[in-house]
This record gives sequence, C-alpha cells and structure tokens, in this order.
Amino acid sequence: MTKKRLFPRLFPVFSEKPSAMQNEQMKILILGSGGREHMLAKVCAASPLAKEVIVAPGNGGMSKEFAAFPIDVEDNESIVRLAMEENVDFVVVGPEVPLCNGAVDALNEKGVLAYGPNAAGAELEGSKAFTKDFLARHNIPTAAYGNFSEMESARDFLGKSKLPLVVKASGLAAGKGVVICETIEEAENSVREMLSGESFGESGKEIVIEEFLEGEETSLHLICSGEKYVTLPMSQDHKKAGEGDTGLNTGGMGAYAPTPLVTPEMLADYETNIVQPTLAGLKADGIDFRGTLYVGLMLTQDGPKVLEFNVRFGDPETQVILPLLEEDLLPTLLASAKGEDLPRNLKFKNESAMVVVVASKGYPESYPKGEIINIPDSLPENTDLIHAGTKQNENGEILSAGGRVLGAVGHGTTLSLAAERAYALCDSIGFTSKFLRRDIGHRELNRT
Ligand code: AMP
Ligand code: GLY
Repeated sequence: MTKKRLFPRLFPVFSEKPSAMQNEQMKILILGSGGREHMLAKVCAASPLAKEVIVAPGNGGMSKEFAAFPIDVEDNESIVRLAMEENVDFVVVGPEVPLCNGAVDALNEKGVLAYGPNAAGAELEGSKAFTKDFLARHNIPTAAYGNFSEMESARDFLGKSKLPLVVKASGLAAGKGVVICETIEEAENSVREMLSGESFGESGKEIVIEEFLEGEETSLHLICSGEKYVTLPMSQDHKKAGEGDTGLNTGGMGAYAPTPLVTPEMLADYETNIVQPTLAGLKADGIDFRGTLYVGLMLTQDGPKVLEFNVRFGDPETQVILPLLEEDLLPTLLASAKGEDLPRNLKFKNESAMVVVVASKGYPESYPKGEIINIPDSLPENTDLIHAGTKQNENGEILSAGGRVLGAVGHGTTLSLAAERAYALCDSIGFTSKFLRRDIGHRELNRT
C-alpha cells in the first residue's frame, strides 16, 4: 500500500527533501488503536523520512488511511514477527501495556529500532509504588504516601491519615485505579477491594495510599534520550466523565494546548526541580530512559507536585500537542530511540488546539457498540477528526467500537476559536449514543 497523506492543511507535508534523505526513507509501524496512535500515524506519514506507515491493530479511521494488521499488541512475539515480516525500519509504540511488557526490548533484540522506554523505564508507569519510592529517594515533590500489600498495615496508616485521601492500585488500570475517599469507611472498602484483587485483579494487589492534593492539574510531555530532553507544549486534560469535572474518572474527555496557566518561568522551575532530577535519578538507578515522559502535575499552593508519570504520549493530549508542531517530529523520535542528542527545542505554532472526545453514553462503565456513525464528507476548515473506538465494516461504514469513539480537533489563533471549531465538528457527527462534555477548556475560557 502506498502512503496516503490526508489532511495536508493540518500536517503540511514537509516539502524539503534533501537528496540524502531520499535514501533513508523508512517504513514505520505504529502500534496501538487509539486517538493517540491515529495522530502519531498522521504525523509520521507527513514526514519526508517516511516511505510508508503501517498500523497494528489500528481502528476504523486508521484502516482507511494505512495498511492495518490485526495483531495483539500485548504479545511481544506477534509484534516482533510483524515488524520482521513487513521489513519495518522503525516502530512507534503508542500504549503503556506493550512498553511495560518489554516490547521495545524485544524489538531491539532483533535489531529493530523502536520508540519508547524499555521495560525498566516503563516501571515509572507500570508501578505507582515503584514511582513513589523513586520520587521520595530523589527528593522530587509529590504527595505524602505509603505503599501496602497487607490490610492490617494499610488500616494502621489510614488511622493516622487526614481526610480526604487517595487510594491507588499500584499496577496498570487504564486510568481507573484511583479512588478519592472522603471517609475512613470508604477508604477501607477501597483498600480491601483492591488488595483482594476484586476491583483491579493483580494491579491492585499492591496499593498506594496518599495525601489528597488540591490545585489545578496540568500535563508536561517530554521526549527524552537519557538525561537529554525536549519539552512539548503544556496541556490540560479533563479526566472526569461529567461537565464541571464531576462523575467517574475516565481516560480523558477532552484537552487543550498550550495552557497559558503555565508561564515560561513556571516551566523553567518544573524543569529544574522535577524534570532534571527525575532524569538524573533514572540514570543513577541504571535506567537509560528513552521515549516520552509524561509528567502529571498538580499545581498546589506549596508548588508543583508529581501526581503520576506516564511513559507514553497522553491520550487525548497528543491530539492537541502534535497539530501545533511546525516541524517534522520524526527525526526527534528517531534520535530518542537511538539514544542520540535531541534538538534543543522544537518549533510550535503560535496557536491553540482543542480536542473534544466524542464518547458512547455510559462510558467509562458499560456502553453500546456497533452503531453506525455519520461523518460528513468534508470537514470544516481548521478541524481534524481523529478516530479511537471505531471500526470499519465490509461496506466501508464506520461503526462505534469503544467508549471513547472519536476526537474532534479544532484549532485557531485563540482557544475560544479552537473550541468553536472543535464543537462545530462534534455537532456534524451523528450516532445514537453520542455523548460529549460541552465544557472542555472551561477553566481557561473562563479565565480569559
Ligand atoms: P493518577 O493515575 O495517579 O494520575 O490519578 C488519576 C487522577 O486522580 C489524577 O489525574 C487526579 O485527578 C486524581 N488524583 C490522583 N492522585 C491524587 C492526589 N494525591 N490528590 C488529588 N487528586 C489525585
Ligand atoms: N489523558 C491521560 C492519559 O493519557 O493518561
């Protein structure tokens, strides 16, 4: 299949093609099936270094644009086999599970270059207990905490803690393993359900209990190569299912970037007090960290504190950060994967972007699937439609296949223009159980 370049208005095909580059054109495999991977595939396909982009397993929208291979990305053998059979030059691993499973290690062992941390680096996301100890050991600001795998010691700790407090499954739980508890009874129940394996299986058999932090949340994305890093624009996600930040925690219902809340001085402070000590700490602990480091921050009255690390791009944050890029991302991804020097900084447009997640009603609990989605043939200017939980049927129709179905992206010179465009796109899409939050960006839009 030849490379197709869609949406050139959002992703100008970087037209300078030095002749040396022509020989280096590569076949790129994007692993994953969410909105993040759809955006990564588009961005990689727009690079002059890309000969072809293929995806595995992909989703309904990705399979319209790229050759899609239905493998299980949680199985390293299938990943390696596909990369070898398809003569892939470079693999970009989207989600956390294959990273924690050591997909990058497995590919590297067979001589395939891959973007993302090795399994040792991915522990920063795979184990919250490991991360809390890491933060404490390296004096990086975070909420006071305790790690537990037994009810009795957890109960003693609860007895000495102030309310509200936060109980977290240490292992991977798709963003859902965190309970904010207002009473000791609630906390004890959460602890019991987690430790018994009832609520999150193996992921909950170790837990973190931590102090509740108050403030605004923001996400800092870095592309790293050992202790070197390049920062991407700050973004803000909306993790609760309901308007006004109410209801259950989700993977993210919408995001915008950049966040004017964070000034260049504040960012410099995060770099000095959080980013640099983290990368130095990883090195001191024998971890050569390559790939994305996503730092989830709570901006408290006592300064910024690390809520969590992710070791991959955020979803839906990627859908607003990458469209702001004014240069080719691929050389930076390649340099990170090889452990080489990174550019000092990347160029971004002086614009805002917003993504509104179009979900299925009932998400993050149960929701219908298989509904036909009506999508207009041509999209409004300055918008892009990113697929997540969709699939294509034999007639080429797009059906809903997940909780977060689509991401409607808008951008413009101001955040309110970006919002207007994203919501106009949302309104042009139809399916029976369509559900979205109408207040993405509310904090920032109300500030201005
Ligand atoms: P995590 O997966 O650890 O980032 O937690 C998911 C979400 O739970 C975060 O994005 C916050 O909204 C909330 N959260 C986690 N830890 C805390 C905390 N210590 N205080 C307040 N809210 C928290
Ligand atoms: N949007 C939150 C995450 O990617 O973890």
